[in-house]
Amino acid sequence: MVTPVLDEGARSALATTRFADVRWFGEIDSTNRYLLDEARRGAAAGLVAVADHQTAGRGRLGRTWVAPPGASLLVSVLLRPDLPAGHLHLASVAVALSMADACARRARFEPEIKWPNDLMVGERKLAGVLAETDLGRPGGSGPPAVVVVGIGINVNWPAELPEELADRAVAINHITGRPADRSRLLVAMLEALEPRAGQLDSEAGRSRLSSEYRARCATVGREVRIDLQDESFTGVATDVDDHGHLLVQTGVCLREVTAGDVVHLRPT
Ligand code: BTN
Repeated sequence: MVTPVLDEGARSALATTRFADVRWFGEIDSTNRYLLDEARRGAAAGLVAVADHQTAGRGRLGRTWVAPPGASLLVSVLLRPDLPAGHLHLASVAVALSMADACARRARFEPEIKWPNDLMVGERKLAGVLAETDLGRPGGSGPPAVVVVGIGINVNWPAELPEELADRAVAINHITGRPADRSRLLVAMLEALEPRAGQLDSEAGRSRLSSEYRARCATVGREVRIDLQDESFTGVATDVDDHGHLLVQTGVCLREVTAGDVVHLRPT
């Protein structure tokens, strides 16, 4: 069921952006799944889905994403960027940077970005990003690819976290000491995303977005441990390449990490 929870101020702030159509669900399986299905039915770029609760929230690397009802902002956006296939990661980058900006604006603190797109406070995770695509243009012609980017950010969580999350997760209210308004955070994120969504469509824009990400990604320059499915190794993260892969120097080898978990070992 869709509930119209955005007030007049929020609706008018978004009216001048591509994100005017916000569908807020009490409960849904996954906002990413919903938007991918809507995209297949021809939904326009800019459609936004939000949920108070997801029963089958999807996370990176095939994991599930679980959050108590009403405690997080669980949001996905539908984009149809004019973007070469090797640069689709920039859609996630745009969302992560925009949510970091929204935290700075609405909650007065700036989370760090850990590769690829986790928002962190210290070593605890505040938000995660998952992009899913329906490639509409094999070979580079045809309509722009569909990219659905979902982000789940912990907003108003209980002070006591379940044991398995206690050292690993954090919510906005833990940082600020007071509850945050999820609608306002959503509007701030979408306002910050509007120019970045535009940047995806041009080479100059993409180059600016990549530079901004490299400058703000706290993983670059850090000693890290990389946990892959069947192997872990340590090294120094030296850069993120144009395809969004993390470059890690381990002794004489420079390894390119395409997917995996990163642990920041200590500041350099
Ligand atoms: C991660 O594993 O770090 C990414 C988690 C992404 C979760 C968000 S919540 C909104 C959107 N809908 C989903 O099913 N997943 C994403």
